Amino acid sequence: MGALGVVLLAVLVFLAVSSWSRQPVAAAPSVQPIDFPHRTHVQTYKIDCQYCHADARRSDYAGLPSVSRCMGCHKITASDKPEIKKLAEYAARAEPIPWVRQYKIPEFTYFPHKAHIRAEVKCQTCHGPVETMTTVGATTGQRLSNDLLNLVGLRPAAPPLTMGWCVECHRTQNAARGLRAPLDCVTCHH
Ligand code: HEC
Ligand code: HEC
Ligand code: HEC
Ligand code: HEC
Ligand code: HEC
Repeated sequence: MGALGVVLLAVLVFLAVSSWSRQPVAAAPSVQPIDFPHRTHVQTYKIDCQYCHADARRSDYAGLPSVSRCMGCHKITASDKPEIKKLAEYAARAEPIPWVRQYKIPEFTYFPHKAHIRAEVKCQTCHGPVETMTTVGATTGQRLSNDLLNLVGLRPAAPPLTMGWCVECHRTQNAARGLRAPLDCVTCHH
């Protein structure tokens, strides 16, 4: 690996250990206006992802459910709970819930959900085990540790939502299933 490699590896170990020791003891508070539990809805009550994210199969965006879709159940269900009272207040004011976006690629790129759902790529392949989450968190984008691993020649998998991640999957899918997922620049960049 050479002297440079050893030095970089040492830096990497240091970073890994120091970021681990800086982990907060308690979970970070939710950034969302309402603490929406995916786990309860998907695992306990077996509601399909696309019942709420209904645009995924027909448009670029997956979409979020409207307040009235939530209220279809919550006019009655758990209406005494504090988080549901917040929901009812948005409904009463006819205001959309200001959900904070987690997954986002830059404006200069193009990502259509439709093509991926039609090609039967599962939501979880890209978003992780959302059905087990109490709040959806996304660890995405470039990471310093990956850059260092690449430098020492250890080829880690590309982090979600980076260009390497998109292209890596397109290559594998095309080879394995004879698909035509784009590899040319202009399809993903206009
Ligand atoms: C198909 C019915 C259904 C829909 C649609 C639905 N929910 Fe629920 N939700 C439930 C059920 C059932 C529970 C569990 C209630 C319980 O444990 O008492 C629940 C639980 C919750 C809880 C936890 C309440 C607590 O504190 O225990 C929140 C918050 C919540 N839902 C918000 C929402 C929001 C926001 C939407 C719309 C995006 C939504 N729900 C749509 C059925 C639904
Ligand atoms: C009852 C409705 C409901 C169901 C069912 C549901 N979701 Fe959601 N989903 C929401 C709401 C509301 C939000 C916004 C709040 C949040 O991010 O937690 C959300 C947020 C998300 C996000 C983050 C979007 C972003 O970038 O901000 C992802 C990814 C997601 N859902 C995937 C899934 C997947 C995968 C499933 C099935 C396993 C699923 N959802 C089932 C209502 C639902
Ligand atoms: C091939 C990977 C991939 C698959 C499969 C996928 N997503 Fe996404 N999703 C993304 C990316 C990338 C973004 C960010 C897109 C952007 O910023 O334009 C995103 C954004 C979202 C968002 C927030 C923005 C929006 O489009 O409304 C939701 C909600 C979401 N996905 C839900 C889902 C659900 C539900 C499924 C399955 C039915 C699914 N996704 C399947 C990659 C994927
Ligand atoms: C499958 C889709 C896809 C293809 C094909 C693709 N890109 Fe990208 N590209 C992305 C996404 C998504 C990003 C934003 C995420 C990131 O910066 O990694 C990006 C980011 C970039 C950036 C900005 C990097 C930065 O650090 O901000 C450049 C420059 C770029 N692409 C050039 C190209 C060129 C040149 C090609 C053709 C050889 C190409 N891309 C092909 C999806 C793609
Ligand atoms: C887990 C695998 C996977 C990931 C990750 C992935 N894709 Fe794809 N992508 C596919 C498949 C499969 C197809 C469909 C190919 C086909 O139908 O021939 C596709 C098709 C596409 C298309 C073509 C749409 C059309 O209408 O023809 C675009 C554009 C695209 N992807 C962009 C992206 C971008 C941008 C990213 C990263 C942000 C990404 N993809 C991440 C698997 C993936």
